Amino acid sequence: MTFPTIRPRRLRHTPALRRIVQETTLDPADFIYPLFVQHGENQRISISSMPGQFRLSVDQLAAEAAELKSLGVPAVILFGIPAHKDPVGLENFADDGIVQRAIRALKAANPELVVITDVCLCEYTDHGHCGLLNEQGYVLNDETLEILQKVVVSHARCGADIVAPSGMIDGMVAAIRGALDGEGYSHLPVLSYAVKYASAFYGPFREAADGAPRFGDRKSHQMDPANAEEALREAALDVAEGADFLMVKPALPYLDVICRVKERFPELPLAAYNVSGEYAMIKAAAANGWLDEQRVILETLTGIRRAGADLILTYHAKEAAAWLG
Ligand code: PBG
Repeated sequence: MTFPTIRPRRLRHTPALRRIVQETTLDPADFIYPLFVQHGENQRISISSMPGQFRLSVDQLAAEAAELKSLGVPAVILFGIPAHKDPVGLENFADDGIVQRAIRALKAANPELVVITDVCLCEYTDHGHCGLLNEQGYVLNDETLEILQKVVVSHARCGADIVAPSGMIDGMVAAIRGALDGEGYSHLPVLSYAVKYASAFYGPFREAADGAPRFGDRKSHQMDPANAEEALREAALDVAEGADFLMVKPALPYLDVICRVKERFPELPLAAYNVSGEYAMIKAAAANGWLDEQRVILETLTGIRRAGADLILTYHAKEAAAWLG
């Protein structure tokens, strides 16, 4: 049977009909809001390449937590800008480090807020790389794992709810799982940036978090944008190592990867990171009046969910939650 008996337009006839046949939903509960925290007092510094995003000092976080609660956004992911950088990134696991202080402030302000910490070295090292380096500037793998173990235990002690290693260091999930379990944090989940590409879309973030490599690039650990089969291998390894959530990053140029990872591992919640460059592109076009900002943002987030992401890390979280009401 076909036209004229079959008419798909029947199901699009009224807003109410369209609503009951809608397949993908978008809810503020799906969002994880990235926060940049820095030292100082009363600091709310605009990030020029990410209009509407700020670097905040710790005293600003209680208000932020309250706003997120009223909007129904359940979770944040923290990025810290340390006071000092050195080859190891010592502030990364210091008890009074910037992220450690931010976790305590957020949990004090709203114990129900899910506080996720990004776990990497690049914001803390003076060379800006995601691990310890050898003389040739190569990111050392196993030596870096020991630092990551110290960082997650430090975050756990401060009350973090989830740790999220983002460095694409081999074995990072197993190393972190072992360290947490050994210190009495066997209940703490690991959200692995399992599939993270060496992407130019991180440009604005590197300004925001001051985490750009001082030389070279991240291609010896982050993935080649041309590869998708390899993404399944990365995801499988992290599942085997005990990851509780998987992530694909960036989101928009990798919707096929999101879809394939979700198909292969439907039993794990999957996050997608709608990264800084994706945000900046929409903001720039909207500022020029070239796009309908609200519709484009909601369509973008819906597309990421439709591809298979359960959760979206997005700088649009607050505005989108407000629009979704
Ligand atoms: C590494 C990290 C990066 C991002 C999140 N975690 C930067 C990088 O890998 O160079 C990028 C996020 C974004 O662009 O929004 N700690």
